[in-house]
This record gives sequence, C-alpha cells and structure tokens, in this order.
Amino acid sequence: MSLMKILTVPDPLLKRKCAPVEKIDDDLRKTLDDMLETMYAAPGVGLAAPQVGILKRMVVIDVTREGEERHPYRMINPRITGESDTIVLHEEGCLSVPEQYAEVERFESVTVEYTDENGKKQTLTADGLLAICIQHELEHLDGHLFIDHLSKVKRDMIVRRVEKEQRRKREASHHGKEEE
Ligand code: NI
Repeated sequence: MSLMKILTVPDPLLKRKCAPVEKIDDDLRKTLDDMLETMYAAPGVGLAAPQVGILKRMVVIDVTREGEERHPYRMINPRITGESDTIVLHEEGCLSVPEQYAEVERFESVTVEYTDENGKKQTLTADGLLAICIQHELEHLDGHLFIDHLSKVKRDMIVRRVEKEQRRKREASHHGKEEE
C-alpha cells in the first residue's frame, strides 16, 4: 500500500464532476485501499477520489474512533436515495481544506446506495457522524466542498488561509533540503 498526495484548495481538480466507475477490478481495489491508508494516516474520517486527483465516483469512509475496531466503507458510484426531514448543524473540516472548520447544515440521516469493492450493490441508512460524512464525501464527486455552503467572503478567506499555510510549508521544506 502507498500513501497518496491529498490535493488542497484551490486545486482545480477539486471542482470537477467525477465520472462513474465502470469496472471493478484489482487495480480499483488497490486504489481504494491506498485511499483508506492515506485517510487513516492524515488522519481523517473520509476521503473522496478527486481529493487524490482521481476523477471517479468513489469514496472511502471510516468514522470509528481511535482504539475502536476499524469499520471502513468503500463506496463506488454512491448515490443518496433518501433524506430525513430533520436537519442538523455540524462543524466540519476537510483534508483538502486543512485546519479550517465551519458549521454546515446536513440531513440528520440519509440512505445511500452504492456498489462495494466486490461489485455487490449495497444500501445503507446512516445517522450521526456517518450520515454527515456520507453527505460531505459525496459532494466532492460533483466538485463541491463544505466551504461552498458558506458565504463567498468566508469561503475566500478560508481558501486564502489554506494557500498561505501551504506556501509556508513548501518554503519550509525547501529550506530544509537546502541545508542538508
Ligand atoms: Ni472533504
């Protein structure tokens, strides 16, 4: 398994609509495993393929806490087919928007249909953090991020902060190399 590079805003690949997965084979399973490994290492609770530069409709999710037994989901071509009437407000973050958090309105529970890594159709009704994570990750597949729920002013501010921090990190690592 290998770790993948996670793209951060304002990378244009994060704004693209992803294409359906047509074939589930060992290569695809390996990619999903790499995505999970990358997500665990980050650490995060969800990762969508476009966040690692793959414009395909697939996500990985695991909302279990550290110390609990892992429960990863690999969702291929996922689609929300049911939503609760109730809305919850939850503070979200995103590995593509590092260290920035904001409250977003989400359905309290959702039903998602997807194909698993073995090609089997699955239906899952989720609530709590899992439901929020599913909604967040699936938006990535249409080029949307949680910050798109915020006002333009707030969103632009967050993107500028991330850009600045990424630039600082790049310069710091450059420096490190020169000194070696
Ligand atoms: Ni995200």
